[in-house]
Amino acid sequence: MKPESRRTVIAGNWKMNFAPSEAKKFIKKTAPLVAGKDACDIVFCAPYVSIDAAVKAAKGTNIHIGAENVHFEDHGAFTGEVSARMLKEVGAEYVIVGHSERRQYFAETDETVNKRTKAALAAGLKVILCLGEVKEQRLAGITDEVVGMQTKLDLAGITEEELKNVIIAYEPVWAIGTGLTATPAQADETCGVIRKVVASLYGKKAADEITIQYGGSMNDKNAAELLAKKNVDGGLIGGASLVPEKFSAIVDAAN
Ligand code: 13P
Repeated sequence: MKPESRRTVIAGNWKMNFAPSEAKKFIKKTAPLVAGKDACDIVFCAPYVSIDAAVKAAKGTNIHIGAENVHFEDHGAFTGEVSARMLKEVGAEYVIVGHSERRQYFAETDETVNKRTKAALAAGLKVILCLGEVKEQRLAGITDEVVGMQTKLDLAGITEEELKNVIIAYEPVWAIGTGLTATPAQADETCGVIRKVVASLYGKKAADEITIQYGGSMNDKNAAELLAKKNVDGGLIGGASLVPEKFSAIVDAAN
C-alpha cells in the first residue's frame, strides 16, 4: 500500500509544442475532461512563451501549470535564459529540471541540474526532477547504479524540507518518444531503487512520501498497469499529453 500522504501526479510535458493560442485552446478543451478528478494532481509544463496563456486558461480549474526548464541564476547576462523568479511571476507552480532532452541536446549535467533544482526550490517552485538510464546502460546491467548516482548528484545539498517540493520522474531514455515502454515491473523496480536511494539520503518517511513518476511512452492504453505499481506515483507524459482525450484517460486511470 502507498502511504496516504504520497500524492499521485499526472503531468504533461508539452516539449516544443503549443504556441500561446494553442495552449489556451488545449486547456479549455481538457479542463472539463479532468474536472473533479482529484485523486491526482494535474500539471502541464509549457514552453516559456505559452505559460502565461496556459495559466490564464487554467484559472479556476484543477490544472496546474509549469515550465520545462529554468536557469540557476536570478538575473543577469545569460542570453536566452529564464529565471525561477520570472516563472513565479507569470504563475508557474512547477518546473521540469534535468529532462533527458536537455541533458542530451543542451549539454546539461548533474551539476547544472542540481543548481537549477536548488534555484527553483528557493523561489518556491515545485520541481519535477528527471533522471533515467540510456539503452546501453540498461543493457550493461548498470541501471541501478546510474539512477542511484543521478539521484545523489541531482539532490546534493537539498534539505529534507525542500525535498517535499521535489517530484522525481524516472524516465528511461530508451522509452522516450520511441513507443517502447518500460514494463510495469521494470518501472516499479527502478522507481523502487530510486526510493531506496532517497531513503538512504533522507530517511524512510521522506522516501515513503516522495512522488516518483514514470515517464516514457506512457499513454491511455498502458497507464493503468503502470500506475497500479506500488512505486509508480504518476506519470510524466510527452506525446499523449498533446491530445485531450488521451491525457484525460491517463488521469482517469489514476483515479
Ligand atoms: P513520451 O511520452 O512522448 O515518450 O515522452 C516522455 C517524456 O519525455 C516526458 O517528459
